[in-house]
Amino acid sequence: MKKQVQPDNGVIVVRDLVKKFNTQLVLDGISLAAEKGKTTVIIGPSGCGKTVLMKHMIVLERPSSGEVYFKSRRIDDMNERQLEKVRTQYGFLFQGSALFDSLSVYENIIFPIRQHHVITDWKAIDELVKSKLAMVGMDGFQTYYPANLSGGQKKRVALARAIAMNPHVILYDEPTTGLDPIRADIINELILKLQRELEVTSVVVTHDMNSAYKIGDRIIMLHEGKIIADGDAEHIRKHPHPAVQQFIHGRVSEEDLAALRLGGTKFKTQYTPEDFK
Ligand SMILES: Nc1ncnc2c1ncn2[C@@H]1O[C@H](COP(=O)(O)OP(=O)(O)OP(=O)(O)O)[C@@H](O)[C@H]1O
Ligand SMILES: [Mg+2]
Repeated sequence: MKKQVQPDNGVIVVRDLVKKFNTQLVLDGISLAAEKGKTTVIIGPSGCGKTVLMKHMIVLERPSSGEVYFKSRRIDDMNERQLEKVRTQYGFLFQGSALFDSLSVYENIIFPIRQHHVITDWKAIDELVKSKLAMVGMDGFQTYYPANLSGGQKKRVALARAIAMNPHVILYDEPTTGLDPIRADIINELILKLQRELEVTSVVVTHDMNSAYKIGDRIIMLHEGKIIADGDAEHIRKHPHPAVQQFIHGRVSEEDLAALRLGGTKFKTQYTPEDFK
């Protein structure tokens, strides 16, 4: 029998997590432990519940059943006031970059600080913003507004904001999605750098396999509400489950292909001059 995960097995521990939205079963008994100082990557097809799982780790969603622990303390049953305290130890990079469009880069970065503190020493804050922006290669952009930044730059500013409060844990939801391969790799390098320099525990949701292999100490694949693979890059590459192989190689399953064929093969993808005669 598989050993039951314990609350002290990691910084974030999820145990027997079940999540239903009305009748839809999204997570069907997920157990995992994000180990201290390590990067745990969660992969899986669109709509399989990655974001929902990640939201439980910071209790933006509550389980239908099961438990969530942070530093060995149960958090899924805490009230909002208690949670607010816990969340100060988290950095969170949302899907999209979710910067506030009406705030400058500077104001975006100090936003989480202002939520929890009354700022008196503005010089120290200027320094802090500068150092966080420097970490992501964006010092000098303090007065810019999100509308004037590229997608990759926005992600980097969002990352600077996520680390503004010196979090112990950083949750990244699709940090590289929508970026070209080079910009995506800059984000990968940044995640690795933060890992090294701040010794944070990270959880990254992605369907970018290059990114998963590069940054993941451990990769977990979700499929139909369950974990079907859990291990390092090598383990995932060699995993015998067909859904894992299909996913990592970006292949369509036989079932899906059959459905496509049933849908008709009459449409043409390319026309030749003969077609117009
Ligand atoms: N608040 C909600 N209410 C009802 N259903 C929801 C809610 N949040 C998510 N879902 C459903 O749960 C399922 C999983 O959604 P989730 O956003 O976790 O997918 P995902 O794996 O992150 O997908 P993607 O890779 O596209 O971001 C989807 O079917 C979604 O419609
Ligand atoms: Mg998602």
